[in-house]
Amino acid sequence: MSGNRRVVFGSDHAGFALKGELVKAAREAGHQVDDVGPLQDVSVDYPDYARMVSEAVAQGRADLGVLVCGTGIGMSISANKFKGVRAALCRTELEARMARAHNDANVLCLGQRISGPGLARAILDAFLAAGFEGGRHATRVDKIRAQER
Ligand code: RB5
Repeated sequence: MSGNRRVVFGSDHAGFALKGELVKAAREAGHQVDDVGPLQDVSVDYPDYARMVSEAVAQGRADLGVLVCGTGIGMSISANKFKGVRAALCRTELEARMARAHNDANVLCLGQRISGPGLARAILDAFLAAGFEGGRHATRVDKIRAQER
């Protein structure tokens, strides 16, 4: 992983440990990292952290976001409520690459209880390295935007 993207991270308690590992890896790779928390392993509600990360991405304060909870499901449901956010729950590197290339996903959701740290790091690498292909995919993403309420 190497790059200089502005990446904002958030989690709940069930994603806290994995978030810490991914934040460290992203910083070491040279990305500009913002960790909205939690900063201690205490019980919190995932929609609160999904909101902070989603707003940072939607408002252009970050290029990409990463959200980690137990399964990644609650984070992805929450993040996709925000206009301008296209959150993808990814279990494989291929999904992460395709989510960027075809869907222009701007938030990656991961589940600490689902994906081990090595795989999660590889998924993050793939997500940060890939770019949107545009073309016919841009037409479709424009339709997603047009359907936002
Ligand atoms: C927390 O126990 C858990 O429900 C949460 O992290 C997440 O998996 C929800 O989707």
